[in-house]
Amino acid sequence: MQQDLILCGRVLSFVASPFDAVGPEAAVEVHEALAIRAGKIIGLGSRAALRRAFPEAELVDHGAHVILPGFVDAHVHYPQTGIIASWGKRLIDWLNTYTFPEEMRFADAAYAAEVAARYLDLTTACGTTTVASYCTIHPESVDALFSKAQARGQRVIAGKTCMDRNAPAGLRDSAQNAYDDSAALIARWHGVDRLTYAITPRFSPTSTPEQLEALGALWAAHPSCLMQTHLSEQLDEIAWVRQLYPEARDYLDTYEAHGLLREGAVFGHAIHLEPREKDRLREIRASLVHCPTSNTFIGSGLFDLSGLMADGHRIGLATDTGGGSSFSMLRTMAAAYEVAQLRGTPLHAAQLLWLATQGSATALRLEDKVGNLAIGMEADLVVLDLASTPAIAQRSQRAETLWEALFPTLMMGDDRAIAEVRIDGRKAK
Ligand code: GUN
Ligand code: ZN
Repeated sequence: MQQDLILCGRVLSFVASPFDAVGPEAAVEVHEALAIRAGKIIGLGSRAALRRAFPEAELVDHGAHVILPGFVDAHVHYPQTGIIASWGKRLIDWLNTYTFPEEMRFADAAYAAEVAARYLDLTTACGTTTVASYCTIHPESVDALFSKAQARGQRVIAGKTCMDRNAPAGLRDSAQNAYDDSAALIARWHGVDRLTYAITPRFSPTSTPEQLEALGALWAAHPSCLMQTHLSEQLDEIAWVRQLYPEARDYLDTYEAHGLLREGAVFGHAIHLEPREKDRLREIRASLVHCPTSNTFIGSGLFDLSGLMADGHRIGLATDTGGGSSFSMLRTMAAAYEVAQLRGTPLHAAQLLWLATQGSATALRLEDKVGNLAIGMEADLVVLDLASTPAIAQRSQRAETLWEALFPTLMMGDDRAIAEVRIDGRKAK
Protein backbone atom coordinates (compact mmCIF):
# COMPACT_ATOMS: atom_id res chain seq x y z
CA MET A 1 0.00 0.00 0.00
CA GLN A 2 1.40 3.39 -0.98
CA GLN A 3 1.62 6.04 1.72
CA ASP A 4 -0.85 8.92 1.39
CA LEU A 5 0.70 11.85 -0.44
CA ILE A 6 0.20 15.60 -0.50
CA LEU A 7 1.65 17.43 -3.51
CA CYS A 8 2.03 21.21 -3.23
CA GLY A 9 2.41 23.56 -6.17
CA ARG A 10 -0.02 25.38 -8.41
CA VAL A 11 -2.66 22.70 -8.95
CA LEU A 12 -4.99 23.24 -11.93
CA SER A 13 -8.46 21.75 -11.86
CA PHE A 14 -11.11 22.16 -14.56
CA VAL A 15 -14.56 23.09 -13.27
CA ALA A 16 -15.97 23.57 -16.79
CA SER A 17 -14.80 23.39 -20.38
CA PRO A 18 -12.71 26.46 -21.33
CA PHE A 19 -14.53 26.35 -24.69
CA ASP A 20 -17.89 26.96 -22.98
CA ALA A 21 -19.50 30.28 -22.23
CA VAL A 22 -17.85 30.78 -18.82
CA GLY A 23 -14.63 31.77 -20.60
CA PRO A 24 -11.27 30.00 -20.55
CA GLU A 25 -9.90 31.28 -17.24
CA ALA A 26 -13.10 30.89 -15.23
CA ALA A 27 -13.13 27.22 -16.26
CA VAL A 28 -10.03 26.52 -14.16
CA GLU A 29 -9.54 26.60 -10.39
CA VAL A 30 -6.03 26.89 -8.93
CA HIS A 31 -5.36 25.10 -5.64
CA GLU A 32 -2.27 25.02 -3.41
CA ALA A 33 -2.22 21.27 -3.00
CA LEU A 34 -3.78 17.91 -3.77
CA ALA A 35 -3.87 14.68 -1.79
CA ILE A 36 -3.54 11.14 -3.16
CA ARG A 37 -4.43 7.79 -1.59
CA ALA A 38 -4.04 4.43 -3.33
CA GLY A 39 -3.84 5.96 -6.79
CA LYS A 40 -6.86 8.24 -6.43
CA ILE A 41 -7.19 11.96 -5.74
CA ILE A 42 -8.82 12.38 -2.35
CA GLY A 43 -8.38 16.09 -1.64
CA LEU A 44 -7.82 19.48 -3.27
CA GLY A 45 -7.40 22.77 -1.46
CA SER A 46 -5.03 24.75 0.68
CA ARG A 47 -1.86 23.18 1.97
CA ALA A 48 -2.93 23.77 5.56
CA ALA A 49 -6.36 22.20 5.07
CA LEU A 50 -4.94 19.08 3.42
CA ARG A 51 -2.26 18.81 6.12
CA ARG A 52 -5.01 18.85 8.76
CA ALA A 53 -7.15 16.34 6.88
CA PHE A 54 -4.29 13.91 6.16
CA PRO A 55 -1.75 14.36 8.98
CA GLU A 56 0.08 11.10 8.18
CA ALA A 57 0.64 11.89 4.49
CA GLU A 58 4.07 12.45 2.98
CA LEU A 59 4.26 16.05 1.71
CA VAL A 60 6.17 16.93 -1.47
CA ASP A 61 6.59 20.62 -2.21
CA HIS A 62 6.87 21.50 -5.90
CA GLY A 63 7.18 25.24 -5.23
CA ALA A 64 6.09 27.36 -8.21
CA HIS A 65 5.69 24.36 -10.52
CA VAL A 66 2.26 23.74 -12.04
CA ILE A 67 0.53 20.44 -11.33
CA LEU A 68 -1.69 19.22 -14.17
CA PRO A 69 -3.52 16.07 -15.16
CA GLY A 70 -1.25 13.73 -17.14
CA PHE A 71 -1.57 14.28 -20.87
CA VAL A 72 -3.95 12.05 -22.81
CA ASP A 73 -2.84 11.36 -26.39
CA ALA A 74 -5.99 10.29 -28.21
CA HIS A 75 -4.50 8.87 -31.43
CA VAL A 76 -1.08 7.29 -31.87
CA HIS A 77 0.58 4.42 -33.70
CA TYR A 78 3.20 3.11 -31.27
CA PRO A 79 4.66 0.80 -33.97
CA GLN A 80 5.67 3.93 -35.92
CA THR A 81 8.04 5.07 -33.15
CA GLY A 82 11.11 4.10 -35.17
CA ILE A 83 10.02 5.88 -38.37
CA ILE A 84 8.91 9.21 -36.88
CA ALA A 85 10.16 12.17 -38.94
CA SER A 86 10.48 10.32 -42.25
CA TRP A 87 10.97 12.66 -45.16
CA GLY A 88 9.02 13.90 -48.11
CA LYS A 89 5.86 11.82 -48.62
CA ARG A 90 2.16 12.47 -48.45
CA LEU A 91 -0.26 10.04 -46.82
CA ILE A 92 -0.59 7.09 -49.22
CA ASP A 93 3.07 7.17 -50.31
CA TRP A 94 4.14 7.68 -46.70
CA LEU A 95 2.21 4.56 -45.66
CA ASN A 96 3.67 2.45 -48.48
CA THR A 97 7.24 3.76 -48.22
CA TYR A 98 7.83 4.00 -44.50
CA THR A 99 4.94 2.68 -42.44
CA PHE A 100 4.04 -0.68 -43.91
CA PRO A 101 7.64 -1.99 -44.07
CA GLU A 102 8.16 -0.99 -40.43
CA GLU A 103 4.83 -2.51 -39.31
CA MET A 104 5.86 -5.84 -40.93
CA ARG A 105 8.62 -6.11 -38.33
CA PHE A 106 6.02 -6.49 -35.57
CA ALA A 107 5.49 -10.13 -36.55
CA ASP A 108 8.49 -10.54 -34.23
CA ALA A 109 7.12 -10.39 -30.68
CA ALA A 110 10.53 -9.46 -29.24
CA TYR A 111 10.75 -6.45 -31.55
CA ALA A 112 7.19 -5.43 -30.64
CA ALA A 113 8.04 -5.64 -26.92
CA GLU A 114 11.18 -3.55 -27.38
CA VAL A 115 9.37 -0.79 -29.30
CA ALA A 116 6.40 -0.81 -26.90
CA ALA A 117 8.73 -0.23 -23.94
CA ARG A 118 10.69 2.45 -25.80
CA TYR A 119 7.46 4.18 -26.82
CA LEU A 120 6.11 4.25 -23.26
CA ASP A 121 9.47 5.54 -21.95
CA LEU A 122 9.57 8.34 -24.50
CA THR A 123 5.98 9.43 -23.94
CA THR A 124 6.14 9.21 -20.15
CA ALA A 125 9.17 11.50 -20.28
CA CYS A 126 6.93 13.97 -22.15
CA GLY A 127 4.20 13.78 -19.51
CA THR A 128 1.80 11.55 -21.42
CA THR A 129 0.08 9.12 -19.08
CA THR A 130 -2.68 7.70 -21.32
CA VAL A 131 -2.59 6.87 -25.02
CA ALA A 132 -5.03 5.38 -27.52
CA SER A 133 -2.79 3.43 -29.87
CA TYR A 134 -3.14 1.53 -33.09
CA CYS A 135 -0.99 -1.58 -33.10
CA THR A 136 -0.21 -3.66 -36.22
CA ILE A 137 -2.00 -6.52 -37.88
CA HIS A 138 -0.19 -8.90 -35.50
CA PRO A 139 -1.96 -9.80 -32.24
CA GLU A 140 1.53 -9.97 -30.65
CA SER A 141 1.85 -6.22 -31.16
CA VAL A 142 -1.24 -5.69 -29.01
CA ASP A 143 -0.01 -8.09 -26.33
CA ALA A 144 3.31 -6.21 -26.30
CA LEU A 145 1.78 -2.79 -25.62
CA PHE A 146 -0.86 -3.96 -23.15
CA SER A 147 1.58 -6.06 -21.14
CA LYS A 148 4.11 -3.20 -20.86
CA ALA A 149 1.34 -0.78 -19.87
CA GLN A 150 -0.07 -3.23 -17.35
CA ALA A 151 3.34 -3.68 -15.71
CA ARG A 152 3.55 0.11 -15.32
CA GLY A 153 0.01 0.44 -13.96
CA GLN A 154 -0.79 2.64 -16.92
CA ARG A 155 -4.17 3.35 -18.53
CA VAL A 156 -3.91 2.48 -22.22
CA ILE A 157 -6.37 1.94 -25.06
CA ALA A 158 -5.22 -0.15 -28.01
CA GLY A 159 -6.31 -2.53 -30.73
CA LYS A 160 -5.09 -4.73 -33.52
CA THR A 161 -5.05 -2.76 -36.77
CA CYS A 162 -7.19 -4.66 -39.29
CA MET A 163 -6.45 -4.57 -43.06
CA ASP A 164 -7.56 -7.05 -45.72
CA ARG A 165 -6.73 -5.15 -48.92
CA ASN A 166 -4.44 -2.46 -50.35
CA ALA A 167 -1.62 -3.45 -48.02
CA PRO A 168 1.37 -5.72 -48.72
CA ALA A 169 1.17 -9.47 -48.24
CA GLY A 170 2.22 -10.15 -44.67
CA LEU A 171 0.24 -7.15 -43.50
CA ARG A 172 -3.20 -8.37 -44.53
CA ASP A 173 -5.70 -10.45 -42.58
CA SER A 174 -9.25 -11.30 -43.68
CA ALA A 175 -12.70 -10.39 -42.45
CA GLN A 176 -12.84 -13.60 -40.44
CA ASN A 177 -9.28 -13.37 -39.05
CA ALA A 178 -9.79 -9.75 -38.07
CA TYR A 179 -12.94 -10.75 -36.20
CA ASP A 180 -11.40 -13.78 -34.52
CA ASP A 181 -8.08 -12.16 -33.56
CA SER A 182 -9.80 -9.03 -32.25
CA ALA A 183 -12.34 -11.10 -30.28
CA ALA A 184 -9.53 -13.10 -28.65
CA LEU A 185 -7.69 -9.89 -27.73
CA ILE A 186 -10.88 -8.41 -26.26
CA ALA A 187 -11.29 -11.53 -24.12
CA ARG A 188 -7.66 -11.29 -22.97
CA TRP A 189 -7.34 -7.56 -22.31
CA HIS A 190 -10.52 -5.48 -22.37
CA GLY A 191 -11.30 -4.13 -18.91
CA VAL A 192 -8.27 -5.84 -17.34
CA ASP A 193 -6.61 -3.46 -14.87
CA ARG A 194 -6.51 -0.07 -16.65
CA LEU A 195 -6.68 -1.41 -20.22
CA THR A 196 -9.41 -0.80 -22.80
CA TYR A 197 -9.74 -2.47 -26.18
CA ALA A 198 -10.47 -0.43 -29.29
CA ILE A 199 -11.70 -2.27 -32.38
CA THR A 200 -9.38 -0.86 -35.05
CA PRO A 201 -10.04 -1.01 -38.79
CA ARG A 202 -7.11 1.06 -40.12
CA PHE A 203 -9.29 3.03 -42.59
CA SER A 204 -11.81 2.23 -45.31
CA PRO A 205 -9.23 1.92 -48.14
CA THR A 206 -7.48 -1.01 -46.44
CA SER A 207 -10.65 -2.89 -45.47
CA THR A 208 -13.17 -4.64 -47.71
CA PRO A 209 -16.83 -3.94 -46.95
CA GLU A 210 -16.91 -7.53 -45.60
CA GLN A 211 -14.20 -6.71 -43.07
CA LEU A 212 -15.92 -3.50 -41.96
CA GLU A 213 -19.15 -5.48 -41.60
CA ALA A 214 -17.42 -8.14 -39.49
CA LEU A 215 -15.88 -5.48 -37.22
CA GLY A 216 -19.27 -3.75 -36.92
CA ALA A 217 -20.73 -7.06 -35.74
CA LEU A 218 -17.84 -7.49 -33.29
CA TRP A 219 -18.48 -4.04 -31.85
CA ALA A 220 -22.18 -4.81 -31.47
CA ALA A 221 -21.19 -7.93 -29.50
CA HIS A 222 -18.75 -5.89 -27.31
CA PRO A 223 -20.35 -2.45 -27.01
CA SER A 224 -18.10 -1.27 -24.15
CA CYS A 225 -15.08 -1.31 -26.48
CA LEU A 226 -14.14 1.80 -28.38
CA MET A 227 -13.80 1.82 -32.18
CA GLN A 228 -10.95 3.86 -33.66
CA THR A 229 -10.18 4.60 -37.29
CA HIS A 230 -9.19 7.38 -39.72
CA LEU A 231 -11.53 9.75 -41.52
CA SER A 232 -11.01 12.35 -44.25
CA GLU A 233 -7.35 13.11 -43.70
CA GLN A 234 -6.24 13.93 -47.27
CA LEU A 235 -8.12 14.79 -50.46
CA ASP A 236 -6.48 11.96 -52.48
CA GLU A 237 -7.54 9.51 -49.80
CA ILE A 238 -11.15 10.75 -49.96
CA ALA A 239 -11.18 10.41 -53.77
CA TRP A 240 -9.85 6.85 -53.39
CA VAL A 241 -12.59 6.00 -50.87
CA ARG A 242 -15.16 7.29 -53.37
CA GLN A 243 -13.81 4.84 -55.99
CA LEU A 244 -13.64 1.91 -53.59
CA TYR A 245 -17.12 2.49 -52.14
CA PRO A 246 -19.18 3.88 -55.05
CA GLU A 247 -22.45 3.28 -53.20
CA ALA A 248 -21.44 5.30 -50.11
CA ARG A 249 -22.86 8.80 -49.59
CA ASP A 250 -19.50 10.02 -48.28
CA TYR A 251 -16.44 8.73 -46.39
CA LEU A 252 -18.26 8.55 -43.05
CA ASP A 253 -20.97 6.44 -44.68
CA THR A 254 -18.43 3.67 -45.39
CA TYR A 255 -18.26 3.21 -41.60
CA GLU A 256 -21.88 4.04 -40.86
CA ALA A 257 -23.20 1.46 -43.35
CA HIS A 258 -21.27 -1.28 -41.55
CA GLY A 259 -22.19 -0.65 -37.92
CA LEU A 260 -19.10 1.44 -37.13
CA LEU A 261 -20.72 4.73 -36.23
CA ARG A 262 -22.07 5.38 -32.75
CA GLU A 263 -20.91 6.95 -29.49
CA GLY A 264 -17.48 5.50 -28.73
CA ALA A 265 -16.32 5.82 -32.33
CA VAL A 266 -13.08 7.82 -32.43
CA PHE A 267 -12.13 9.30 -35.80
CA GLY A 268 -8.58 10.54 -36.34
CA HIS A 269 -7.98 13.66 -38.45
CA ALA A 270 -11.50 14.47 -39.81
CA ILE A 271 -10.18 17.50 -41.68
CA HIS A 272 -12.15 17.58 -44.94
CA LEU A 273 -15.70 16.87 -43.75
CA GLU A 274 -18.91 17.25 -45.76
CA PRO A 275 -21.86 19.00 -44.10
CA ARG A 276 -23.72 15.68 -43.75
CA GLU A 277 -20.73 14.08 -42.08
CA LYS A 278 -20.43 16.90 -39.56
CA ASP A 279 -24.14 16.78 -38.73
CA ARG A 280 -24.13 13.03 -38.30
CA LEU A 281 -20.95 12.95 -36.19
CA ARG A 282 -22.40 15.55 -33.83
CA GLU A 283 -25.80 13.89 -33.64
CA ILE A 284 -24.21 10.53 -32.77
CA ARG A 285 -21.75 12.12 -30.26
CA ALA A 286 -18.82 10.42 -32.02
CA SER A 287 -15.33 11.75 -31.26
CA LEU A 288 -12.95 13.61 -33.55
CA VAL A 289 -9.23 13.76 -32.89
CA HIS A 290 -7.14 16.74 -33.93
CA CYS A 291 -3.59 15.71 -34.93
CA PRO A 292 -1.95 19.05 -35.74
CA THR A 293 1.73 18.09 -36.08
CA SER A 294 0.76 15.21 -38.36
CA ASN A 295 -1.64 17.30 -40.40
CA THR A 296 1.09 19.80 -41.19
CA PHE A 297 3.95 17.28 -41.42
CA ILE A 298 2.17 14.98 -43.93
CA GLY A 299 0.55 18.00 -45.56
CA SER A 300 -3.06 17.03 -44.85
CA GLY A 301 -4.73 20.34 -44.02
CA LEU A 302 -5.99 22.63 -41.26
CA PHE A 303 -8.53 21.05 -38.88
CA ASP A 304 -11.42 23.41 -38.09
CA LEU A 305 -11.16 23.18 -34.31
CA SER A 306 -13.01 26.37 -33.44
CA GLY A 307 -15.84 25.77 -35.91
CA LEU A 308 -16.37 22.15 -34.87
CA MET A 309 -16.10 23.02 -31.16
CA ALA A 310 -18.64 25.82 -31.53
CA ASP A 311 -20.98 23.34 -33.21
CA GLY A 312 -20.73 21.05 -30.19
CA HIS A 313 -18.45 18.26 -31.41
CA ARG A 314 -16.52 16.04 -29.01
CA ILE A 315 -12.85 16.64 -29.81
CA GLY A 316 -9.54 15.34 -28.48
CA LEU A 317 -5.92 16.14 -29.28
CA ALA A 318 -3.18 13.77 -30.40
CA THR A 319 0.36 13.44 -31.66
CA ASP A 320 -0.47 10.77 -34.29
CA THR A 321 3.01 9.33 -33.79
CA GLY A 322 4.75 8.66 -36.24
CA GLY A 323 2.80 10.64 -38.90
CA GLY A 324 3.05 13.39 -36.31
CA SER A 325 6.51 14.78 -35.81
CA SER A 326 6.72 14.72 -32.00
CA PHE A 327 5.98 12.48 -29.01
CA SER A 328 5.26 15.57 -26.90
CA MET A 329 1.78 16.88 -26.16
CA LEU A 330 3.41 20.26 -25.38
CA ARG A 331 4.68 20.43 -28.97
CA THR A 332 1.24 19.24 -30.10
CA MET A 333 -0.47 22.08 -28.20
CA ALA A 334 1.91 24.52 -29.90
CA ALA A 335 0.97 23.07 -33.30
CA ALA A 336 -2.74 23.27 -32.44
CA TYR A 337 -2.21 26.93 -31.58
CA GLU A 338 -0.38 27.56 -34.87
CA VAL A 339 -3.04 25.82 -36.96
CA ALA A 340 -5.76 27.78 -35.17
CA GLN A 341 -3.86 30.99 -35.87
CA LEU A 342 -3.75 30.12 -39.57
CA ARG A 343 -7.55 29.84 -39.39
CA GLY A 344 -7.81 33.17 -37.55
CA THR A 345 -8.95 31.73 -34.21
CA PRO A 346 -6.22 31.79 -31.51
CA LEU A 347 -6.59 29.34 -28.63
CA HIS A 348 -6.17 30.27 -24.96
CA ALA A 349 -3.61 28.35 -22.88
CA ALA A 350 -6.47 26.91 -20.80
CA GLN A 351 -8.14 25.63 -23.96
CA LEU A 352 -4.91 24.00 -25.16
CA LEU A 353 -4.37 22.30 -21.80
CA TRP A 354 -7.98 21.14 -21.69
CA LEU A 355 -7.71 19.59 -25.16
CA ALA A 356 -4.58 17.67 -24.12
CA THR A 357 -6.20 16.36 -20.93
CA GLN A 358 -9.95 16.45 -20.32
CA GLY A 359 -10.82 16.95 -24.00
CA SER A 360 -8.90 13.86 -25.06
CA ALA A 361 -10.18 11.90 -22.06
CA THR A 362 -13.75 12.82 -23.02
CA ALA A 363 -13.12 11.84 -26.64
CA LEU A 364 -12.00 8.44 -25.33
CA ARG A 365 -14.91 8.21 -22.87
CA LEU A 366 -12.54 8.21 -19.91
CA GLU A 367 -13.66 11.55 -18.48
CA ASP A 368 -14.78 10.01 -15.19
CA LYS A 369 -11.32 8.45 -14.70
CA VAL A 370 -8.53 10.65 -16.06
CA GLY A 371 -7.95 14.07 -17.64
CA ASN A 372 -8.73 16.24 -14.61
CA LEU A 373 -7.47 16.77 -11.10
CA ALA A 374 -10.63 16.37 -9.08
CA ILE A 375 -11.69 14.25 -6.14
CA GLY A 376 -12.24 10.63 -7.14
CA MET A 377 -10.16 10.83 -10.31
CA GLU A 378 -7.17 8.58 -10.90
CA ALA A 379 -3.85 10.12 -9.84
CA ASP A 380 -2.12 10.45 -13.20
CA LEU A 381 -0.40 13.80 -13.22
CA VAL A 382 2.38 16.01 -14.50
CA VAL A 383 4.49 18.57 -12.66
CA LEU A 384 5.41 21.32 -15.08
CA ASP A 385 8.47 23.56 -14.71
CA LEU A 386 7.66 26.96 -16.25
CA ALA A 387 11.35 27.89 -16.50
CA SER A 388 12.83 24.72 -18.03
CA THR A 389 15.17 26.48 -20.48
CA PRO A 390 16.79 29.93 -20.41
CA ALA A 391 14.66 30.98 -23.38
CA ILE A 392 11.41 30.02 -21.65
CA ALA A 393 12.54 31.30 -18.24
CA GLN A 394 13.30 34.81 -19.47
CA ARG A 395 9.83 35.03 -21.04
CA SER A 396 7.78 33.54 -18.21
CA GLN A 397 9.67 35.68 -15.67
CA ARG A 398 8.01 38.87 -16.92
CA ALA A 399 4.52 37.34 -16.98
CA GLU A 400 1.84 39.05 -14.92
CA THR A 401 -0.61 36.16 -14.74
CA LEU A 402 -0.38 32.38 -14.41
CA TRP A 403 -1.70 32.00 -17.95
CA GLU A 404 0.92 34.33 -19.36
CA ALA A 405 3.58 32.40 -17.43
CA LEU A 406 2.31 29.05 -18.75
CA PHE A 407 1.97 29.97 -22.41
CA PRO A 408 5.73 30.06 -23.28
CA THR A 409 6.10 26.50 -21.96
CA LEU A 410 3.17 25.37 -24.10
CA MET A 411 4.74 26.99 -27.17
CA MET A 412 8.43 26.27 -26.54
CA GLY A 413 8.55 23.45 -23.99
CA ASP A 414 9.60 19.82 -24.41
CA ASP A 415 10.41 16.92 -22.10
CA ARG A 416 12.74 19.19 -20.08
CA ALA A 417 9.64 21.05 -18.84
CA ILE A 418 8.21 17.84 -17.36
CA ALA A 419 9.71 17.89 -13.86
CA GLU A 420 7.80 14.87 -12.57
CA VAL A 421 5.18 12.40 -13.79
CA ARG A 422 2.97 10.25 -11.60
CA ILE A 423 1.00 7.30 -12.94
CA ASP A 424 -1.54 5.77 -10.57
CA GLY A 425 -0.02 7.96 -7.84
CA ARG A 426 3.46 6.49 -8.30
CA LYS A 427 6.43 8.44 -9.56
CA ALA A 428 7.09 7.46 -13.20
CA LYS A 429 9.60 10.23 -13.95
N1 GUN B 1 -4.42 6.61 -42.42
C1 GUN B 1 -4.35 5.27 -42.43
N2 GUN B 1 -3.30 4.82 -41.73
C2 GUN B 1 -2.67 5.91 -41.24
C3 GUN B 1 -1.51 6.08 -40.44
O1 GUN B 1 -0.84 5.16 -40.01
N3 GUN B 1 -1.19 7.37 -40.16
C4 GUN B 1 -1.91 8.42 -40.61
N4 GUN B 1 -1.53 9.65 -40.29
N5 GUN B 1 -2.99 8.27 -41.37
C5 GUN B 1 -3.37 7.03 -41.69
ZN1 ZN C 1 -3.31 7.61 -37.39
